[in-house]
Amino acid sequence: MATNEDLFKKIISHSKEYGFVFPSSEIYDGLSAVYDYGPFGVELKNNIKTYWWKSMVQYHENIVGLDSAIFMHPTIWKASGHVDAFNDPMIDNKDSKKRYRADVLVEDHTQKIEDKIRKEVDKARQRFGETFNEQMYRTTNPRVMENLAKIETIKTRFYSSLEKNDLADVRALIEELAIVCPVSGTKNWTEVRQFNLMFSTQMGSVNEDANEIFLRPETAQGIFVNFLNVQKSARMKIPFGIAQIGKAFRNEIVARQFLFRMREFEQMEMQYFVKPGEELEWFAYWKKERMRWHTSLGIPAEKYRFHDHDKLAHYANAATDIEFEFPIGFKELEGIHSRTDFDLGAHQKFSGRKLQYFDQEKNEGYVPYVVETSLGLDRTFLAVLSHAYREEKLEDGTERVVLSLPAILAPVKVAILPLMKKDGLPEKAREIMDVLKYRFRCYYEEKDTIGRRYRRMDAIGTPYCITIDHQTLQDNTVTLRDRDTMLQERIPVNEIPVIMDTKLSL
Ligand code: GAP
Repeated sequence: MATNEDLFKKIISHSKEYGFVFPSSEIYDGLSAVYDYGPFGVELKNNIKTYWWKSMVQYHENIVGLDSAIFMHPTIWKASGHVDAFNDPMIDNKDSKKRYRADVLVEDHTQKIEDKIRKEVDKARQRFGETFNEQMYRTTNPRVMENLAKIETIKTRFYSSLEKNDLADVRALIEELAIVCPVSGTKNWTEVRQFNLMFSTQMGSVNEDANEIFLRPETAQGIFVNFLNVQKSARMKIPFGIAQIGKAFRNEIVARQFLFRMREFEQMEMQYFVKPGEELEWFAYWKKERMRWHTSLGIPAEKYRFHDHDKLAHYANAATDIEFEFPIGFKELEGIHSRTDFDLGAHQKFSGRKLQYFDQEKNEGYVPYVVETSLGLDRTFLAVLSHAYREEKLEDGTERVVLSLPAILAPVKVAILPLMKKDGLPEKAREIMDVLKYRFRCYYEEKDTIGRRYRRMDAIGTPYCITIDHQTLQDNTVTLRDRDTMLQERIPVNEIPVIMDTKLSL
């Protein structure tokens, strides 16, 4: 059984070998934390987008779409707080010259204490068997209580120092906790400094006239500033939502972990505009709905969990993350935030334009409150891919790697494979391909042995293979092979479209 780190490495190399994800600019030695999606990756990514878009925009009559520009007026980022506060506190180790996020170092430290608690709890569970009450154990066992209190003290001090921007105390805390650099193993730290995560560039041709503009770090602000355009043009009544899929850019200082933390990535965001006072009800609604969406992909519920925020951003009155168990552990996949009227209010103030919704029935205007769902497309890709990746030992002693992707997301739905490259089999296979390619993404392949071709289709997650053999020419039937069970059945050629429609919709 591979360790999770091994598994993660295998997924990364599988992604490259089979055309899912390539490191960007590879022939120039790559560009850190930037990736390109290959022929099968782009299909999987597009299928995830469509699945999200349909569930948000097509199935909700009161949610509409938007595609706003990446470049926006620079004042937008002042109003949203990104210019002043979209920072990460960073610290360098003087020996290894490596830079770390101070919050990640502290969180890793508290995670180690949490791991100790978990081990202690697991041991006790084994000792006491079925009568074990974890809640009671956690609140009465002195060692567990002491460790829980330690975590609480660290978190309280850390968040309060960050809030006061007391970076000297953040450094002092790192020293007191005796946190060492994972590379050099020393405690030789620099001061803690804040780094803004936005990329900037110049708009305008001559430097003197040029304006500094930013590459958007989230798609949400494009939605806020278009709130009235959308509401009026699409005649939306509160509550209603605006959904958008698009690129976002963050100059992540500690950029590693493959698609998990990228400098250029995509978000699928939806802002839901509600009456003030009703936001917490809608927050609860979207929390449930979004979890339902994730589990509808057939991934077991245990792979997900909520992480409710104890410490809220100044503009939020509730926030939670949906975390997924990646091979690198449980990590944030989606954020759900009740953002009050902070963003619309700020844009009203900075632009001098009213951003109010007029309630015809009550004959009054107000600034709506907003509940946001913000999902990373690349992280969803990584979640789906890492759950689907499987290494199997077969009965005949051989091994295969299979991606058990849900059919709706699979890059290729059906492979069309003539058994041999002669005797009229390719011609018959082409006839079938020409019918099916207008219905699903198909893949035609006649090179190599049939066994090799099946393995290749398994490795890219193709749910079905249709093989055309000599019997096809006699009785107009083909074999249909199922990726997961590897079972084969014979079906008539003229029934392929209907059978495939049914199977692919399951
Ligand atoms: N508008 C709210 C917002 O942007 P966020 O929690 O900063 O909230 C939302 O980001 C989601 O975007 C995250 O849950 C994650 O899935 C994705 N995301 C954020 N930073 C990312 C990065 N550097 N690389 C890949 N995905 C990222």
